[in-house]
Amino acid sequence: MTAERPFECVVLDDAEALAEHAARWLFGEVEARGGRLAVCLTGGSTPERLYARLTRPPYSRSFPWPCVHWFFSDERCVAPDDERNNARMTRRALFDHVDVAAENIHAIPTQGPSPAADAAAYEAELKGYYGAARLDPDRPLFDVAVHGLGKDGHTASIFPGSPALDESERWVVPVAQARQEPYVPRITLTLPVLGSSRTAAFLVSGADKREPLARLIAGAALPAARVGSAGRLSFIVDAAAMPETAS
Ligand code: 6PG
Repeated sequence: MTAERPFECVVLDDAEALAEHAARWLFGEVEARGGRLAVCLTGGSTPERLYARLTRPPYSRSFPWPCVHWFFSDERCVAPDDERNNARMTRRALFDHVDVAAENIHAIPTQGPSPAADAAAYEAELKGYYGAARLDPDRPLFDVAVHGLGKDGHTASIFPGSPALDESERWVVPVAQARQEPYVPRITLTLPVLGSSRTAAFLVSGADKREPLARLIAGAALPAARVGSAGRLSFIVDAAAMPETAS
């Protein structure tokens, strides 16, 4: 978010209302586009309610599941069946309950010889899907991106002060040291890729996000503030996370 881009925010009563609104937003964006679609999902705990909401009517029936390819903004370098694994969370909350083809789920690998090798493998997968090795600003990689906001203002696994903040060439990089739990090595998409989306939204829930959200609104140079979008970038927030000063 930058000064020239308005802070577009919708505030919902609570986490459940946030999930309901986010599901309606995501469905609307996907339904409007049609054809083959790419959605980039965030990990963490906040989006779990959204993912679960998509497994219930009307979305369970009306969502164009066969058309959508699902990607991830980051992953913890743990086994796929580890409870800290973002793709595992998403499978249990969403993919295991709806008609998504296995080949449409593009999980970030974590079992390669090194995080760097896993990051390179995912970069190759993204480029293979995109069909080019360089991002064209007029042809975003993702149709929709769902982002999270960490208590320290990070997003994906791009933490404050991280070398990943300055990465402009690689699409995916390893992160040796996470600055927030879980403290395991990570793999993250870089800012140019996180911003290569036709539309995007941050989901921000809970009182522990009031402080980073207030800093974001005040224009602090947080990693989350560096995420762009080719189109609208919204903040879907619950009341608990909304700073008093901004309400
Ligand atoms: C992760 C996420 C991370 C997350 C924020 C917020 O792998 O943890 O990608 O960026 O979105 O840390 O996490 P919560 O939703 O759990 O607060």
